[in-house]
Amino acid sequence: MTNLFLNALKGTNRAGRPPVWLMRQAGRYMPEYRAIRSRYPFLEMCHKPDLIAEVTMLPLKAFQMDAAILFSDILMIPEALKVGLQFQDKVGPVIERTIKNRAQVEALPNIDVRESLGFVAQGIKHYKIDSKTPLIGFCGGPFTVASYMIEGGSSKDLRKTKDMMMRDPECLHLLLDVLAKHSIDYLNMQADAGADTLQIFDSWANHLAHPQFREFSLAYLDKIVKGLRKDIPVILFCRGSSVFAPDLAEIKPQAISLDWNADLSRIRQQIPPGIALQGNLDPDVLLSSKEVVRKEVSRMLTSRRGDPAYIFNLGHGITPEVQYENVRALVETVQDFA
Ligand code: CP3
Repeated sequence: MTNLFLNALKGTNRAGRPPVWLMRQAGRYMPEYRAIRSRYPFLEMCHKPDLIAEVTMLPLKAFQMDAAILFSDILMIPEALKVGLQFQDKVGPVIERTIKNRAQVEALPNIDVRESLGFVAQGIKHYKIDSKTPLIGFCGGPFTVASYMIEGGSSKDLRKTKDMMMRDPECLHLLLDVLAKHSIDYLNMQADAGADTLQIFDSWANHLAHPQFREFSLAYLDKIVKGLRKDIPVILFCRGSSVFAPDLAEIKPQAISLDWNADLSRIRQQIPPGIALQGNLDPDVLLSSKEVVRKEVSRMLTSRRGDPAYIFNLGHGITPEVQYENVRALVETVQDFA
């Protein structure tokens, strides 16, 4: 399979334009997604292999993206750990049984994710029957997933997580270790089912100071990367990657996905040439007009012209409010770039 996306991950894309896909490309900004979603709760969609495949393909059909990302969520591992996960409209994820102490970490059920989350592997197999576009499997970074289990949902400041980190770091390490172990099995299961690439989203790592980033985020990303099949490329994303990119490079992923604060060309000079870069348009650009989208996308493309190891993406996921036609303008600007 020769494809711009897989080539860029190897640093051998000579097509004259970079590949493009967008984090959270299958979501509520799409009327096609909302139509399916009006018939099922979100978590039910995540459990049905035929819907996993169908939703994964929606942005490919609409925009001819160069890669697909598995339709699922980073909270599937906590769900399998039976923490009482719900997705509430207008609120987001809510976890009923939060983690407050070591006894609660030790009491988490001893699951085999290949069994508990086998429906994800089935979804990947369905997708691979119907589509030739490379598929990105994923999981959350242990620090980010742990934060949801400690906070009980999304949090602006991760107060409880940071409190545990300072007062009882051993408890947090215990939880991170459990999550890293399951993440390895989960990602290897996705690769065995047909995922071509794996991305790890440590979205909330930007809350950490540098030494804490290394101890509570990077160490566990490293553990995961070391435990994965060696033939499958790994992309690391975190908010804070503009600052932490050189640290992320130490654990040797195939690519680093940058948040939107970074100047791509400057980061390029700090990162070994064998590691591809992905990113990093401010997702809010998609809230503007087609003209502004074309201008900002062109600016970024021009700055990375000829880079064989560059993948166009956003600096974080698409939000539900963005204009569909702006996403089209973004993708077409990349596809037409020469
Ligand atoms: O297109 C894709 O990328 C599809 C797969 C995907 C989803 N979530 C689907 C989803 C991926 C890769 C994620 C990752 C995810 N989930 C992250 C990390 C990436 C990031 O954006 O930082 C995080 C932190 C979550 C947790 C999560 N899931 C939250 C906070 C929410 C609610 C807020 C929101 O954006 O809706 C979700 C729900 C969710 N995950 C939806 C989708 C399509 C919306 C659910 C709905 O239809 O109501």
